[in-house]
Amino acid sequence: MHPVIAIDGPSGVGKGTVARALAAALGYRHVDTGAMYRAVAWRAQQLGLDLDDEGAVLSVAQAAVIDVDGSRVMIDGTDVSAAIRTPDIDRATTRVARLPQVRAELVARQRALAEQGPLVMEGRDIGTVVFPAAAVKIYLDASADERARRRACDPAHSAAQTQDLAHIAEAMQRRDENDRTRQASPLTIAADATVVDTTGVPASRVADEVLAIVRARVS
Ligand code: DC
Repeated sequence: MHPVIAIDGPSGVGKGTVARALAAALGYRHVDTGAMYRAVAWRAQQLGLDLDDEGAVLSVAQAAVIDVDGSRVMIDGTDVSAAIRTPDIDRATTRVARLPQVRAELVARQRALAEQGPLVMEGRDIGTVVFPAAAVKIYLDASADERARRRACDPAHSAAQTQDLAHIAEAMQRRDENDRTRQASPLTIAADATVVDTTGVPASRVADEVLAIVRARVS
């Protein structure tokens, strides 16, 4: 297995920005596992499936060809990079990500990627479940207000730009609560993770700080 840098944390904390910068600096592949869950949710919804029907959603996850490369996300040959970042898919993905068998299928795919080359992998359970022996584990955190502000400015989530901040914050908190309290792989901090509080810190400085932590551990 090649080295893996695990980046976990709640929504809107800036995992993508940090993971992208790390991957570029280290020459590692950047994998956004949230995009994999989003792509499955998008496909299941497109097929008109009941998102609580674990067997049906699992069939989609098993059959789908998912290709996540940086910010480009393909499922079964369709580029869904923009389509998966809407408030509707935010909600659908939280439901899909609760399903243990769907998680098991995607976790197996995520682990297989580390056979191909070194990774910076971002998500919720990378350091706790997917790669408990990851070379470096970073848990990014920030206040709820700041995370809502960042999401509102995120060009990848263009629909969020038309919503008011209170609405974004409320929806985000509801989804985070689901992610933290679900039975299957809830969002928790790995015992050996380095927690970085990014409240009030510009993304570029967070990326530099995390890169310094990683460089000190990975030769
Ligand atoms: O990181 P994101 O906002 O794109 O994640 C979308 C949803 O998928 C969110 O509800 C958390 C969930 N997720 C997860 O359960 N496990 C992961 N490894 C990544 C994302």
